[in-house]
Amino acid sequence: MIRAAVLKGTSVYGKEFIGFRDGWRGVTEGDAIPLERKDIQGIGKLGGTILGTSRSNPFENGDEKAEKARAALDRLGVDSLIVIGGEGTLAAAKRMVDLGVNVVGVPKTIDNDLSGTDMTFGFDTAVGIATDAFDRLRTTGDSHGRVMVAEVMGRHVGWIALHSGMAAGAHAILIPEQRTTWDELTEWVTATKRRGRAPLVVVSEGFVPEGGAEAYSDQGLDAFGRPRLGGIGEIVTAEIEARTGIESRCTILGHIQRGGTPTAYDRVLATRFGLAAIDAVVDGHFGEMVSLRGTDITHLPIEDAIGTLNSVPQSRWDEAAILFG
Ligand code: F6P
Repeated sequence: MIRAAVLKGTSVYGKEFIGFRDGWRGVTEGDAIPLERKDIQGIGKLGGTILGTSRSNPFENGDEKAEKARAALDRLGVDSLIVIGGEGTLAAAKRMVDLGVNVVGVPKTIDNDLSGTDMTFGFDTAVGIATDAFDRLRTTGDSHGRVMVAEVMGRHVGWIALHSGMAAGAHAILIPEQRTTWDELTEWVTATKRRGRAPLVVVSEGFVPEGGAEAYSDQGLDAFGRPRLGGIGEIVTAEIEARTGIESRCTILGHIQRGGTPTAYDRVLATRFGLAAIDAVVDGHFGEMVSLRGTDITHLPIEDAIGTLNSVPQSRWDEAAILFG
C-alpha cells in the first residue's frame, strides 16, 4: 500500500511523502520518517508495516491529543494524510476530518469486518495461514482420534473462521454472529466421530458461548476500550470433552495468523488501494475511504464504512453449516 502510494505519488504527481511511526502515536507526537523511493523499494512482499503501528487513539481522553496531531501536521507542512487501518483507526480518522484535517482512509484489518469494502488486505493471508494450520492439526486429530479445536481471530465477525474452516473441511465452525448451542456442537462432533472421522472445530475468538453474555476475555482492555480477546477455544474444548468423552485438544493461532509473507492476492489488493489512495488525495476526496467493490476499486465516505460491521450474513452461515457434522 505504502509503496504504491509513494511510487505513483512521486512519479506521476510530484508529491513528497513522510511516514508517521506507530500510527496515531506518531501523528500526535510529530514522529515521522522520510518516505522516498529508496525507502519503500522491496517492501511489497513484507508483512506488517515498515512504519510500525500501535493501539493508540488520538481521542482517548477528549480532543487534546487530536489537537496536538493537527498542530504537528501543520508544523511538518503535511497537507493530507493517508490513514490505513480498521474500524477504530478509521473512526478516529473521521473525527480528524471533522477537525479540518484532509484525510483519505484505506481499509486494513485481517478480520474483514469493515463495511463499505468487499475485502481488506491481510484477510486472505490470515485465512491461508489458518487453513494450513488446520491441515497440520488434522494430522494429530486423525492419528489419535481426538477432537481438535482451533481458535482464530475475529473479534466481532467470523469471516476468518468461516473461510478457513470451510477451506479445511471443518466439522463445526463457531462465529460471533451465531449463538450455536452446546447441544448443536455436541451433535456435530459426535456425528463426525460416528463416521470414523476426527472432528475439527474452528472457533472465532469473539464467539459467545451459550449462557455467556459477551465474548470471552480475561486480559483487560486496549486503548480503544475494547476487551483483549482470546481463550474461548479452551472453554469450547473442555465442554466438548465433558459432553462427549472424546479426548480433545485446543490450539490458539493468535498472532501467527497475522504475520509472515502476504499472499499474492493481498499484495495486489494493497497495491491497488495505494494507487487509489493517492489518486483520491490528488482529486480531493477527503473524508473518503478507498474500497473494493467486485473487482473495481472505488471510494466512499468513511462514515459509511464505520457505522455498521461487515458481519457474516445468515445465507453464508447456512451454506457452510450444511457441511457440519
Ligand atoms: O482487530 C484486529 C485483530 O486482529 C483482532 O482480531 C484481534 O482481537 C486483535 O486484532 C488483536 O489485537 P492485539 O494485537 O492488539 O492484541
